[in-house]
Amino acid sequence: MQKIAIINGPNLNLLGIREPQIYGTNNFNDYYKSLQAKNLHCTLHYFQSNIEGEIINYLHECLTEKFDGIIINAGAYTHTSIAIADAIAAINIPTVEVHISNVMAREEFRKTSFLATKCVGSISGLGLKGYELALLYFTATE
Ligand code: DQA
Repeated sequence: MQKIAIINGPNLNLLGIREPQIYGTNNFNDYYKSLQAKNLHCTLHYFQSNIEGEIINYLHECLTEKFDGIIINAGAYTHTSIAIADAIAAINIPTVEVHISNVMAREEFRKTSFLATKCVGSISGLGLKGYELALLYFTATE
């Protein structure tokens, strides 16, 4: 059974309340429970932090805990954090970047992702479903 981590960055703890016209009205904890209930043939772990260094520390833990895959929505750190990008490169665990909103259809500064070049792929604009689609990348057989 693969061990997969879902990592959410800053302000994603406020999903459901935060700008619902952009991010929807569901909170992540409910969504996560529904994902777990789907029996997606993997062991899921969830981590959220508003603090850049804590996200980096958790990525390092993923290495020591031998995770098979990572799904990360680094929120605004996507567009600013070379340190998170370096951590993804350092641990060398396949990582998929997810964005709930379509970052390419928003402000210019959201079109830059420091993480993207270190990730196997990116999903953007498909709402919370993006996390499940990223999971399928890891669990679906070809
Ligand atoms: C986001 C997009 C980012 O630009 C923004 O800062 C977020 C959420 C998304 O999921 O659409 O916090 O990553």
